[in-house]
Amino acid sequence: MSGTFLYEGKTKIVELAEDGQSVILTFKDDITAGDGAKHDVLDLKGQYCSEITARLMHYLNTKGIYTMFLNYIPPNKIRARKLKMIPLEVIVRFKKAGSFVRRYGGNEGEDLPGPLVEFTYKSDVMHDPLMCVEHLEALGILSREHATIIIDEAKKAAMLLKEFFTLHGFELWDIKFEYGFDESGNICLGDEISPDTMRLRKAGEIFDKDIYRRNLGNPLEKYEVVLNLCRSILL
Ligand code: CDP
Repeated sequence: MSGTFLYEGKTKIVELAEDGQSVILTFKDDITAGDGAKHDVLDLKGQYCSEITARLMHYLNTKGIYTMFLNYIPPNKIRARKLKMIPLEVIVRFKKAGSFVRRYGGNEGEDLPGPLVEFTYKSDVMHDPLMCVEHLEALGILSREHATIIIDEAKKAAMLLKEFFTLHGFELWDIKFEYGFDESGNICLGDEISPDTMRLRKAGEIFDKDIYRRNLGNPLEKYEVVLNLCRSILL
């Protein structure tokens, strides 16, 4: 199942599949926070996050969202469309938390009036600076037209996931997406959707990477709960 090595990041290895068209993503057991300053290896983490990503992307595919997901290869790999990734993190927020509160004040968990989309530039050394659409255009990162499509797609995907988690009694506070261009130039949702890339709460309990960021213990116990509810999505 291993092909030509393309790239290794903090939490994933990307290889070109034998068909030369799709890629195989291997989810590693690594977990990082603070732009890579905090780093650990947690047994089963890659397995949990790959399966959660597979099931949530499959769910989004069935709801008409175009994602990279092709199939899940247990325990910790995904076959995905090959994309030319855009170096942005696209964050959709329903409630105030994290860097939003640090930047604009307010309290963790306060409602925002509607889904709010932010772009940050993927750069650990620059600490993922916030970007306006004008910056994206001026720096040649993304056209205004593509930025508008991404804002719309990100809101739709986030609202579908919020709805799914609400049905299971969980609150989706915020979520980070990454997008790329497929071979025809279409914008496609890529990367990962897991408790590492969202804030997910239930009755004040944390089910996401804030457990790790705040040194509240091993997060995998809670990630397993999320995995089990995602198993209601059949592949
Ligand atoms: O976590 P922090 O306060 O630094 O960042 P944030 O901007 O409040 O994060 C918003 C959402 O995006 C959270 O669900 C994060 O887990 C997610 N995120 C991510 O997945 N990867 C990043 N590099 C930054 C944020």
